[in-house]
Amino acid sequence: MSLKLNVIIGSTRPGRAGPVVAAWVAEQARSHGKFEVELVDLADFHLPLLDEPAHPRQQNYQHEHTKRWSASVASADAYLFVTPEYDYFPNAALINALQALSLEWSMKAAAVVSYGGISGGLRAAQELRQLIANLDMMAIPQTVPLPFFGKFINDEQVFVPTEPMIEGLNGALTQLDKWATALKPARQG
Ligand SMILES: Cc1cc2nc3c(=O)[nH]c(=O)nc-3n(C[C@H](O)[C@H](O)[C@H](O)COP(=O)(O)O)c2cc1C
Repeated sequence: MSLKLNVIIGSTRPGRAGPVVAAWVAEQARSHGKFEVELVDLADFHLPLLDEPAHPRQQNYQHEHTKRWSASVASADAYLFVTPEYDYFPNAALINALQALSLEWSMKAAAVVSYGGISGGLRAAQELRQLIANLDMMAIPQTVPLPFFGKFINDEQVFVPTEPMIEGLNGALTQLDKWATALKPARQG
C-alpha cells in the first residue's frame, strides 16, 4: 500500500529558514522508504486570512486558492508539519492554513518537526498538536524539536543534522507510517 506524505513548510515570511529545515526533513522522509513524499510550501498557496463564507466542512469553496490548497491536502495520507516557533506558538499562517479546511485532514496521521532557540520550538509543537487533534488527525506524540537550529545550517544553506536529530525524525516517521497504514482503510470504510 503506497502512502503519500506531504511535508509542509509552515513558515511563509520573506527570509524564512523553514525551507532549509524542510529540505532535510523531506530528504530523510524519502530515504526512510515508506512514503511517497511531496514537499509542499505553504507560501506557494498565498492563502489570505480565512475568506470563505461557508464553514470548511461544507467544502463549498469560492476561491481558487482554497480549492488548490484543498486538493493538495486531500492528496495525502499523512503530514509532517515543519513549524517555526513564534512567541511560543506556531506561526499564524500555518494555523490559518489548517483552519481553512476540515474534512481533508480528517483521519490522517500527522507529525511535527519544530525549530527554534533553546526549546527547539517544542512549545509551538505542543500547541500545534492540539489543533491537529481537534481537526481529527492522529497527532503522533513523537515530535522532533531542533534546538539552536541555525547552528546546523552551513554556508551552502544546507541543514546538517546531528545523530539524535536523525534518530528522532526516523522514529517519528516510523510511527507516522504505522498510524497512516492503520487509518487508510478506516477512512475508506
Ligand atoms: C515573530 C517571531 C517570534 C519568534 N518567537 C520565537 C520563540 O518564541 N521561540 C524561539 O525559539 N524562537 C523565536 N523566534 C526566532 C525564530 O526561531 C527564528 O526567527 C526562525 O528563523 C523562525 O523560522 P522562519 O525563519 O522559518 O520564519 C521568533 C521569530 C519571530 C519572527
